[in-house]
Amino acid sequence: MVFLPLYHCIVDEKKKSIKDIAAKFLMLQNGDIMNEDEMKKKAGESAAEWIEEGMLVGLGTGSTVFHFINRLIQRTAEGLHIQFVSSSIQSQEQAKAGGIPLADINAITSIDITVDGADEIDAKRRMIKGGGGALLREKILANTSREMWVIVDESKVVEKLGKHPLPVEILPFGRGATIDKIRKLGFLGHLRTRDDDRLFETDNGNLIYDIQFESLRDDPESDHERLIRIPGLLETGFFFNLASRLLIGRADGTVDQLS
Ligand code: 5RP
Repeated sequence: MVFLPLYHCIVDEKKKSIKDIAAKFLMLQNGDIMNEDEMKKKAGESAAEWIEEGMLVGLGTGSTVFHFINRLIQRTAEGLHIQFVSSSIQSQEQAKAGGIPLADINAITSIDITVDGADEIDAKRRMIKGGGGALLREKILANTSREMWVIVDESKVVEKLGKHPLPVEILPFGRGATIDKIRKLGFLGHLRTRDDDRLFETDNGNLIYDIQFESLRDDPESDHERLIRIPGLLETGFFFNLASRLLIGRADGTVDQLS
């Protein structure tokens, strides 16, 4: 059973510049074209081949993870027995509808492997995550897992983090003061909104403030440390020291697997 990519329906194409859309397609010298989604699919499906019988699997969120889950659904139909916990309602619904049993997140203390995407990842495997707004639950799952595998298309691999906005999850209560404190640290940005201009709400009922850095980050750990001290700021989208395996979907159709 294969599910339609609902995730793509919520992507606001209007907000993308022509350059962004053009960048989604990489023309190879021999004339082959592999678009971003095909690279994501290759990475996601490769990761799913490594999942073993009896595992408890943590599901990340996003369009790359979408392909990972679809392949897990196929493998479950072929006889694989696994359980999952999820970082979002979106991934949970997809996996549940595909027949994968859901474990009780509040009753477990350890996950075998969490597989998740990233918005940016550097050579030290430091990441910016949270483009889908699920960063807090994603970080909880990653920290509860023996291993975190990250699946990306090659456009996500960067020399320095910070071109992609950094999402931070903030409590709605007192948000004006929280945002003021973020700005006073020199981090400008905006509250994330939906297409109808209402505030984006996370699965936790919180808000996302997207920080747009003025320059690429030399010391993201220090940025994180300064931000996380603000009481109403629940978590940042910086992920450090978590990715134990990295699968990169390439434009030539191959997948680099780095342990
Ligand atoms: C969601 C995330 C995603 O993993 C990240 O945004 C990458 O998404 P995609 O696979 O759609 O490019 O952090 O909160």
